[in-house]
Amino acid sequence: MKNIFITTPIYYINDEPHIGSSYTTLNADVLSRYFRQKYGNDKTFFLTGTDEHGLKIKQSADEKNITPQELTDKVSSEFKSTWKKLNISNDYFIRTTDTNHKKIVSDLLNKIKENGFIYEDVYEGLYCVGCEKFLMEDDLVDGKCPLHPNKELTQYKEKNWFFKLSVFQKQLIEIIEKDEYKIYPVHKKNEVLSKLKKGLTDISISRNGLDWGIPVPWDNSQTIYVWVDALINYYSALKINKKEDFWPAFAHLVGKDILWFHGIIWPALLLAANLPHPKNLLCHGFFTINGQKMSKSLGNVIRPIELVERYGLDAARFLILSATQFGEDGDVSIEKFDVAFNAKLANGIGNLISRVARLSSNENFSFPILENNKKDEEFEKYLESFEIDKALLYMFEKFEKLNNILDTKKPWELIKNNNLQDSHKCLSELVYEIRNNIDYLYPFMPEFSEKVKEHFNKEKIEAITPLFPRIK
Ligand code: MSP
Repeated sequence: MKNIFITTPIYYINDEPHIGSSYTTLNADVLSRYFRQKYGNDKTFFLTGTDEHGLKIKQSADEKNITPQELTDKVSSEFKSTWKKLNISNDYFIRTTDTNHKKIVSDLLNKIKENGFIYEDVYEGLYCVGCEKFLMEDDLVDGKCPLHPNKELTQYKEKNWFFKLSVFQKQLIEIIEKDEYKIYPVHKKNEVLSKLKKGLTDISISRNGLDWGIPVPWDNSQTIYVWVDALINYYSALKINKKEDFWPAFAHLVGKDILWFHGIIWPALLLAANLPHPKNLLCHGFFTINGQKMSKSLGNVIRPIELVERYGLDAARFLILSATQFGEDGDVSIEKFDVAFNAKLANGIGNLISRVARLSSNENFSFPILENNKKDEEFEKYLESFEIDKALLYMFEKFEKLNNILDTKKPWELIKNNNLQDSHKCLSELVYEIRNNIDYLYPFMPEFSEKVKEHFNKEKIEAITPLFPRIK
C-alpha cells in the first residue's frame, strides 16, 4: 500500500478550539487511525497545526495588547493541549511561524514566479478580515460577509502580486470532473464545478504594509497573502519531516467555508509549481447553535473540553463525530448531547458490555479464545469511501442488535430457571460478536475499544464497572 497523508486545516489562533474545529480534527483522526490499523503505523502521516500570520491575528494581538508572536505561542500550545486531551494522534503539528516553513513557502513562490504565473497589478475591492479573503459583489449579503455579519468590510486599493489562477480553469475542471482530485460529498464537488465553470479571475497573493507575514522573496515591501502561506503548510510539513514520499496528500479534510481555497486555489498553486495535486478533498458542514454557525465572532461556542469533562473522553469523541451527517450542517446543544449519550452509550453499548460481563462472571462461564479472520467489508467500504459517520452508525447498529438479542433471549431468566446450557449459548454468541467487532470502534473511540477488547479477550470474563454512567 502507498503512503497515506491526511491533513486538517491549520487553525487560526485568534481563538481556542471549539467543537466545530474539533469535528474536522476528529474525522481526520478516525481516518488516520483506521489506515494505521490496516497498513501499519509508518504508512500514514497525519498533520495538523496552526495558521499564525495575517491581519486577523495581528488585530487580535493588538486588542489584547500583546505581540502577535506572544499570542501565537500561547494559543498554539492551547491547541496542542486540547488535541492531546481529545486523544488526537497527529504525527506532526506545524506552525506557520516556524522558520523552516517560511523558507519553503518562499522557495515555492519563487518557483511559481519562475514558471511565469506571477505578475504585478493593482487590486481594488472589499476584504473580510474574518475570512482573510477578498469578497465579490455576489458573495455579500446585505452588504456584509455572510460568515461575519457583525464585522465591517475593508475597502482596499493597492499594488499587489497576482497569481494567474484563470489559466488553470480547464485543467481544474478536468481533474475534478474525472475525480482525479475527488471532492466528497458529491454535492460539494458539483458546487465547486459550477463555480469553476462560471470562470476564474486571477487573485492577489500579497499584501502591502502588513508586516505580520512572510516577506515576498523578491519584494520586501509586501508580505505573502496569509492563505497562500497557510496552504503551503501541507507541502512544507512533509519536507520538514523528510517525508516527501507521502506526497501528494491522500485526503485534506476541511469545512465548507474553505472549500474554494482547497478545491481551486491549492491545486492551481501546485500545478503552477509542477507538483502533483492532492487526491481527495473531504468537505463537511458547520455545527450550528439555534441555526447560527458556531464561531468565536458570534460568541456561541461549545468547547470540546466541556464535553470531555461532562461525558468522558471517548463519549465526547463519539458525540462530536456523530452529531451531524458528514457534509451537512447540524444543530447542536448540550441537551441534545445528553439525549444521545443516554440513548447510544449509557443504555446502548455501555449497557450491553456491562450486562454481558456481569452475567458471564456471575455464572463463571468460559468462552475459549478463537481466532477470527472474518472481516466486515461493509464497514470498510464505508470508511474507504469516506462515509465516516455512516461507518460509525453502522457499527453502533450492529452493537444495538446484540443488545436486542440480550433483551429478547433474557439469559438471566434462563439462569434463574437453571437452563445454564441455553444461557451460556446466548452469552457465547454475544461475547464472540463483541470480540470480533470491538476493534472496528478503535478509530472512533480508541480507549473504550481497547479496554473492552482487553476485558473480553479472556476465557473467563469478569464484571466491569459501567463505562458510560447515565446522565440525570
Ligand atoms: N486558517 C484557516 C485554514 C487554513 S488551511 C490551509 C481557517 N481556520 S479556522 O480556524 O477558521 O477554521 C478551521 C476549520 O474549522 C475549518 O475547516 C472550518 O470549517 C472549521 N470550523 C470552524 N467553525 C466551524 C463550525 N462551526 N462547524 C464545523 N466546522 C467549523 O479557516
